[in-house]
Amino acid sequence: MFSVILKDVALLSAIGVTLAVIMVIAGRLLSNYGQCKININGKRDVIVTGGSSLLSSLNDKQIYLPSACGGRGSCGACKCKVDSGGGPLLPTEKPFLSKAELAQGNIRLACQVKVKSDITIDIPASIFNIRRFSATVSEIIDYTYDTKGITFKLAEGEMIDFKAGQYVQLETEPYNKVKQRVARAYSISSSPQINDSLQLIIRYVPEGVCTTWVHQHLKIGDKVFLTGPYGDFFLRDTEADIIYVAGGSGKAPIKSILEDLAVKGTSRKMTYFFGARTLKDLYLTEHMKSFEQVFENFSYVPVLSAAEPTDNWTGKTGFVMPYFKETIRDPKNTEAYLCGSPGMINAVTKALMDNGIPQEKIYYDSFG
Ligand SMILES: Cc1cc2nc3c(=O)[nH]c(=O)nc-3n(C[C@H](O)[C@H](O)[C@H](O)COP(=O)(O)OP(=O)(O)OC[C@H]3O[C@@H](n4cnc5c(N)ncnc54)[C@H](O)[C@@H]3O)c2cc1C
Ligand code: FES
Repeated sequence: MFSVILKDVALLSAIGVTLAVIMVIAGRLLSNYGQCKININGKRDVIVTGGSSLLSSLNDKQIYLPSACGGRGSCGACKCKVDSGGGPLLPTEKPFLSKAELAQGNIRLACQVKVKSDITIDIPASIFNIRRFSATVSEIIDYTYDTKGITFKLAEGEMIDFKAGQYVQLETEPYNKVKQRVARAYSISSSPQINDSLQLIIRYVPEGVCTTWVHQHLKIGDKVFLTGPYGDFFLRDTEADIIYVAGGSGKAPIKSILEDLAVKGTSRKMTYFFGARTLKDLYLTEHMKSFEQVFENFSYVPVLSAAEPTDNWTGKTGFVMPYFKETIRDPKNTEAYLCGSPGMINAVTKALMDNGIPQEKIYYDSFG
């Protein structure tokens, strides 16, 4: 009796192992797409091994599409035109496409499209200017309890050419249990007048893969990789009044814009609202205030939403939105530049539009 049970168990185990082997072999055969050709803009072909996302296949060929979320399908930054070979649109892509883009039929998220056959894509020529830089951490400043300013010196002879307001992607190294390298977007906070190094302002996100690495592991002298520059969050060259609104690390690109303008000069009327909870969340206040002496018509307005009694705060309180009305002279001739959490961007955009600022004059980088 016992030997019969043993035989049955052995037989079942053998069947299980055989099935597993068949599945692995079938999986390999089915996902072996061989060499695939990516035709770019009808001008250039790159040959890649099929099976990876379009985003990472292009990355391997040093073609860096924007990918603020590092390829997780949660930012929509990696949109590009896929004219053929991309397969059907996936449910993960739809939320990021406008009605017009859905109707166009060829707009896809490069991180969601798997290269399984030859594929034809169309990307802006500016993508070819995006490069991967090697750099060394040269300075770390604790701006607040959860926010650091980190300066990266580019490798000898390397220069980065960017517009104030743009961002780079910082690549992490494996640490503790995190074995995978990830890339996350960070706005450049230093001036584009300096192009052999750049500063990022990075706020700690609890359990965050990249920010934990930055805040708890990164040290002066470490070597890192950055790609960029990316993004269309930069100052438009007009004479319109400007409202800047930032919260948390959203100060980074506005700092870069102001430092750039300080060199170039401007007479535009500019008001900068910085929203924070308490006094301990404010940083670089003196630096921002100092621009009031640099520009003819600039004011820096920190606003605290939850000031502690011990803060002895005498400045503006609550949210930033109620203060827009007294600031806006001519809404049709005002541009707004917003940077911070998606919730803040949505609330501020609505308030600005309620005050008559046209939606097309509201520019933002959402850090979500
Ligand atoms: C264009 C752009 C520019 C950016 N610039 C900056 C910048 O200058 N400075 C900066 O600090 N960040 C910036 N960010 C955000 C940054 O890219 C990362 O998303 C953030 O640092 C979290 O990365 P992580 O790997 O630590 O967290 P993850 O491991 O990606 O996330 C961990 C968890 O936290 C949540 N989460 C992710 N980000 C946030 C957040 N900001 N607040 C609260 N919860 C979050 C996630 O949903 C997830 O559940 C920018 C984002 C974009 C898209
Ligand atoms: S890289 Fe973020 S959605 Fe594709």
